[in-house]
Amino acid sequence: MDNLTPLRKQYLTIKKRHTDALLLFRLGDFYEAFDGDAQVLARELDIALTSKPMGKGARVPLAGVPHHSLERHLATLISRGFRVAICEQLSDTPLQGEGSGRGLIERDVVRVVTPGTVLEPGLLQSKRNNYLAAFITDKGNAGFAYADVTTGEFAAAELKPSRALAELERLRPSEILVAESFDANAHLPNSFLTRLPDAEFEFERAKNTLLEHFGSSTLSAFGLRNKMLAATAAGCIISYLRRTQTSVAEGLTRLSSYDAESYMMLDAQTLRSLEIFESSSPASSLLAVLDHTRTPMGGRLLRKWLRQPLLDIAEIVRRQEHVARFVEYADEHEAMVALLDSIRDIERLFSRVHTALATANDLMALGSSLEPLIGLRRVLQRNTKLFGATLTALPPCDAAAQLINKAINDDRTASGGVIREGFSEELDRLRDILRDGKRFLSELETRERARTGIKSLRVGYNKVFGYYIEITRPNLHLVPQDYTRKQTLVNGERFVTLELKEHETLVVNSQERISELETSLFRHVCHEISKHRTEILGAAGTIAYLDVIAAFAETARSFSYVRPVVVNSNELQIKGNRHPVLERVMSDKGFVTNDVELGGRSAPQIALITGPNMSGKSTYIRQIAITILMAQTGCFVPASEATIGLCDRIFTRTGLYDRLGSGESTFMTEMVETAEILHHATPRSLILLDELGRGTSTYDGLSVARAVLEYIHNHPQLNSKTLFATHYHELTALEELLPRLKNFHVQIVEKGTELIFKYKVVPGSADRSYGVYAAKLAGLPRPVVRRAESLLSFYEKEANEKDVGQFAQQDSNRKSNTAIEAKLCEMLRGIDLDSLSPVEALMKLYEFRRLAEAENDARIARRA
Ligand SMILES: Nc1ncnc2c1ncn2[C@@H]1O[C@H](COP(=O)(O)OP(=O)(O)OP(=O)(O)O)[C@@H](O)[C@H]1O
Ligand SMILES: [Mg+2]
Repeated sequence: MDNLTPLRKQYLTIKKRHTDALLLFRLGDFYEAFDGDAQVLARELDIALTSKPMGKGARVPLAGVPHHSLERHLATLISRGFRVAICEQLSDTPLQGEGSGRGLIERDVVRVVTPGTVLEPGLLQSKRNNYLAAFITDKGNAGFAYADVTTGEFAAAELKPSRALAELERLRPSEILVAESFDANAHLPNSFLTRLPDAEFEFERAKNTLLEHFGSSTLSAFGLRNKMLAATAAGCIISYLRRTQTSVAEGLTRLSSYDAESYMMLDAQTLRSLEIFESSSPASSLLAVLDHTRTPMGGRLLRKWLRQPLLDIAEIVRRQEHVARFVEYADEHEAMVALLDSIRDIERLFSRVHTALATANDLMALGSSLEPLIGLRRVLQRNTKLFGATLTALPPCDAAAQLINKAINDDRTASGGVIREGFSEELDRLRDILRDGKRFLSELETRERARTGIKSLRVGYNKVFGYYIEITRPNLHLVPQDYTRKQTLVNGERFVTLELKEHETLVVNSQERISELETSLFRHVCHEISKHRTEILGAAGTIAYLDVIAAFAETARSFSYVRPVVVNSNELQIKGNRHPVLERVMSDKGFVTNDVELGGRSAPQIALITGPNMSGKSTYIRQIAITILMAQTGCFVPASEATIGLCDRIFTRTGLYDRLGSGESTFMTEMVETAEILHHATPRSLILLDELGRGTSTYDGLSVARAVLEYIHNHPQLNSKTLFATHYHELTALEELLPRLKNFHVQIVEKGTELIFKYKVVPGSADRSYGVYAAKLAGLPRPVVRRAESLLSFYEKEANEKDVGQFAQQDSNRKSNTAIEAKLCEMLRGIDLDSLSPVEALMKLYEFRRLAEAENDARIARRA
């Protein structure tokens, strides 16, 4: 070690503490990586790998990037899954001759950047939260917490593991912290995984970190008293941030415990198949068509609302009333939107101010984003009854806005500094000196020209030599005695005088002082602004709220959405319903609207929908689910009229696809998801089953589909509203067996050999699939289509004679059985247990038995 340079020793000491990260070591204008890190850096960023002598006989591999391009390179490294430790120079002015070993700048790692902890605006998506999560399981329970360090959002929850995983899927954290011993096979979402020593996940330790961080004495303060796992996860986040980041953890000043039960449950599969956030083309997700938000905060909140539709009618109604107001009062809506347009990302700007990363531009942007608050309040004040609570939650933040306005110079085009004139007397005085200095120099020039008689005499300045008087060669004989020669040029010489030297000292001193003073004043302003965090972040939250409300109003107005009546029952009634995304894509051709009525007292529980390929079955069932989801976020819906019973969960089993990497086949995936539905659905759930069973042979598929339908229909705990789209026409026979199942089909008109799609869903069943017709439309070669047609008629004949015959036979026994079962079930359901006397109960039993016996006799008679 002795033969190494001090710099090398310093590097090795720091690197030892960060073996799991790429260490970027600041050396002047570069961030350098050494040794193995250098090789990685060169490879990943495609930059040159060189080497540097760092001691006797020690040449070390080296690769580096200029300091100003750090952000760009960080983005690449983080996206490729690296953790990057950034080591800065902690003292500004390099001690002389660092290279030659006569002194060393103090250096240390100030941040370890990981996907969940980036702060650089360039690495963040403005309308998307960047979450860091922690996850822990124990004895059949799971705890998790998540934080967005750029906005200060911080929450924790404790749930069943499957539910917690579903929540994580929805949140899509960029990074998840788990214990070293955590099961590697658990189905965590596809995020950057950071494993921490098990000790970090010990409750006592994590609890203490958490309590100390918030200066609190009990977990009750966060609603986490009986939620040890949630508290542990939250504590882990704090200690991880403290270890990897300088002051970022301080930005997390509120922790909310959150109860996933208070939102409609949407698993990742449902979000995918309804194309809520993503779809094959980026413009056609529900988010994309609803996102008329103007601010990043609003954009992030809209995502959250779509992820978490409400189960609380009062809150839904509150949002609806606010939307309705802006739908009705276009002028208020316009005024609001214009103000929102001028607001930038207050949450992230504030967090930069708070963590001392802000630039003057950031501070100015924050100031100008606070100014519209007064205007926003004025709009809301037009109806204080409706917006009372919103107004309270929207503080004007005028003190902070004024401070920024007074302190920060918004015109920094010329030589003006960061701090505005008039903010600090001392600064103004120093600036005057500089300004006078300019005058002094031009006066000096005039004076010296007169004294020496040299017309071309010029006072100038350069960085190396400072101020000088320049005399051209032909005039050199006129130079006075008191000039001291400083530099010789081709065409002349440069001199200084005592007076000029004194002036230089004054200027340099003032400049240094100005720069020091500006830095400290800027820090002071940031610090003062930080004190307004409750107001500012509160206002930001309300701005986000108003932004989403205004966006909902805009969509409602432009696309004639209506306000749904949301009720606390299981009925569902929608008239003139459209698919919000499809109707926009095909605005010219005209989307055909449809109605639906399910649940409640008289409507069917299950709608079985048949129809040819491409007739609109999938579209129909999806638009209904999407409409319910929208209604529960407070949004108006694409319909002419809607009454919607609160839905606790939307289940979907749609489309054929493989769960890549899960090691399950297509059909297996289908069955796993169906099992999940049958285990978890409730009478308040909506189930979408699109062509269940088509992943296997016809009769297997048909049998599974039928069994599933019977189960949903007959199981008293399910009774869920169900939309079932299918090509199995055999299933339509179930209408006679299951009283709460009703057949529907999508209308088509046959015109010669052509089919005309009407896209209208009407009662009754379709008679054929027209799959071969679709094959023709798709442009399959003619011979293939013709052959398929003749095969089809052959199979149809065959099937009618054999298989279906058997099926029908089995059905007719089963049919009466199921019919009687269904009847008994209906009767049981009709009994009001609370008002039933024991005698009446006995009478009922006799009645049931009579029915059952009669049925038995009938069957024996049929067999005989
Ligand atoms: N209500 C509607 N109005 C107008 N066009 C519609 C409507 N519904 C569906 N379509 C059009 O029909 C196409 C096919 O719809 P969809 O995928 O729902 O059919 P499908 O019956 O589920 O077909 P498959 O049986 O092949 O799955 C849509 O992409 C859309 O272009
Ligand atoms: Mg379909």
